Amino acid sequence: MNGAVVRELGTLADPLTDVIAVDGQPLPSAEPKRYVVLHKPRGYVTTRHDPRGRPIVTDLVHGRGRVYPVGRLDADAEGVLLLTNDGELTHRLLHPRYALPRVYEADVAGRVTRADLPRWRAGVVLDDGPAKPIAVDVVGDGPSGARHRRGDVAETTRLRLTFTEGRKHEVKRYCDALGHRVLALRRVAFGPIELGDLPIGAVRDLVPREVSALRAAATSAGTARRQPAAPRRRRLGREMKHTTGDGQSS
Ligand code: URA
Repeated sequence: MNGAVVRELGTLADPLTDVIAVDGQPLPSAEPKRYVVLHKPRGYVTTRHDPRGRPIVTDLVHGRGRVYPVGRLDADAEGVLLLTNDGELTHRLLHPRYALPRVYEADVAGRVTRADLPRWRAGVVLDDGPAKPIAVDVVGDGPSGARHRRGDVAETTRLRLTFTEGRKHEVKRYCDALGHRVLALRRVAFGPIELGDLPIGAVRDLVPREVSALRAAATSAGTARRQPAAPRRRRLGREMKHTTGDGQSS
């Protein structure tokens, strides 16, 4: 199950999220496969339940059966979140072997210039090991004189960083290690799936071409060494009315 041999009788598995294979052959799924992308709003958690009672991302996905987030995004982050009931694809997309590029835009406190980028591209050692983005760029100033959710900051910089791992708080910890606190974080692409113009809180089904692209990305090792498509620039942290695909406000 999920790549490990299970010998204990009575081992529990969820057929929708666990990959169960017999003699290497995955068992057929009981339900049709569904693939959706959500523009996750800040404040939503990507777990199935939250002991603190915060809203969960699946509250925003209606009428599409049971789907589960592919990996996680921090509660205070927003942006691209895939959800599916395809446990095998999920497993592969998250597997380090395929090094799926995740592209983030981060507003960081302080000024970062292009002259600083060699330091940003060199990598750092975090408490759980070395971390190095495959791409970092300055994409502009953050909101000027912003009163950010995380305090007043005179100067901010918007960076675009691409990482190929889904380590916990990786972007925040990376930026912190370089002396710049992350004030706002948005994921603008997850592998071949881009945020585009999807409004905050909205959900859409992936088109077959996108599902094929995801499968391809989770088939050829080393996808990460190719540069991901540069997503269009968007504003971070703007206030928007959130609507889901079926019109519900969040
Ligand atoms: N890195 C972070 O710090 N947070 C996320 O949610 C994703 C990547």
